[in-house]
Amino acid sequence: MSQELKIGVVGLVMGKNHIDGYLKHPNAKMQAICDINPDSLQKIGDQYGIEARYTSCEEMFANEELDIVSIATPNRLHKDMTILALEKGIHVLCEKPIGMNSAEAIAMHRKAEETGKRLMINYSYRFLPQSVAIKQRIDDGLVGDIYSVSCRWLRDINGFSQFGDWFAKKSVSGGGALIDIGVHFLDKVLWLLDFPELDSVLASSHDHIAQKVAQERGVTYDVEDTVEAMVRFKNNTNFLFQVSWAANIAESNLIECRLLGTKEGILEQNINQGYTFKAKTFRETKGVSYILDINHVNPKICPSSMYYFVDSIVNDKPHMANSTEAITVMKLIEAIYESAKTGKQIFFDGSNS
Ligand SMILES: NC(=O)c1ccc[n+]([C@@H]2O[C@H](COP(=O)([O-])OP(=O)(O)OC[C@H]3O[C@@H](n4cnc5c(N)ncnc54)[C@H](O)[C@@H]3O)[C@@H](O)[C@H]2O)c1
Repeated sequence: MSQELKIGVVGLVMGKNHIDGYLKHPNAKMQAICDINPDSLQKIGDQYGIEARYTSCEEMFANEELDIVSIATPNRLHKDMTILALEKGIHVLCEKPIGMNSAEAIAMHRKAEETGKRLMINYSYRFLPQSVAIKQRIDDGLVGDIYSVSCRWLRDINGFSQFGDWFAKKSVSGGGALIDIGVHFLDKVLWLLDFPELDSVLASSHDHIAQKVAQERGVTYDVEDTVEAMVRFKNNTNFLFQVSWAANIAESNLIECRLLGTKEGILEQNINQGYTFKAKTFRETKGVSYILDINHVNPKICPSSMYYFVDSIVNDKPHMANSTEAITVMKLIEAIYESAKTGKQIFFDGSNS
């Protein structure tokens, strides 16, 4: 009989996507759910026919024999919930960002090593069809050496993640637009480039629009709405990006990423300001330029991150988006915040200018 993995999910807003993702895998069984909001528990429990419902993850871990748990709660809760699950012998798929800072990320990583259980971070943008296709082209050598990457993710002034709620409180979120949506870019670009060694970063952050809106609405807002940064790698590749929850732009949500390689360039853009993507490659050979669209991507090669996590366990294969990679992403985020605060270029070997 094929192995059945019993799954629990904590936090049922983003967690609902996790349930959908797990249910695509034949070996996954949704066993239990947890949320402090009883209405969410009832609604999601009834919708998916999940009987085991908890308002405390401690109780869920104690009463259910889970193989995997998804942690999809506000960022401040990731570390403690993950460590608790790992100690109970449960593999964890934790939402991004891994935690509030690199110290938390390291503590989570160490616990996974100590318990021999898996810890994967839901860097879901790696699993989009275009991302998978682009990674495949890079790995197949079609793009050549990538020497420049530029990305932007800008939302208009209505684009705050739950303005005034926990996303806007540094003590719960760890930061603003950078740690919330920029983290996807950082992870994705590092992954596409095979995590090259970091050299330095120069960044600035802004909260002009956020502070204005916070005052108008009478709410507290102590994180940035916009970050720009230039990340340099030791191999001389540059990565320039701009991320904003609230910008004076016409588009409600503009996402764009360009990679310049020695053989070809790639442009990936979101469609209709939403969360599906198109991508093109550009190259010139013997005086002729070519534009190639990345079209249909077989869904079998880009399952959900939840499907991928279950499959890695069932087939006893290592998984990507692991805690080692997440620590690097978190250190990069910290360096960007440090550079924005001090106005200085931050060097990863500690020799700050
Ligand atoms: N991968 C992605 O693309 C993506 C997208 C959105 C959110 N996220 C991440 O998912 C996480 C959750 O974000 P969200 O947008 O769903 O937030 P949210 O605030 O909308 O939902 C959080 C849920 O967790 C529940 N919760 C809070 N404290 C709890 C506790 N102690 N025990 C159990 N449940 C608790 C809340 O009741 C709520 O249902 C965040 O880390 C966020 O960064 C990731």
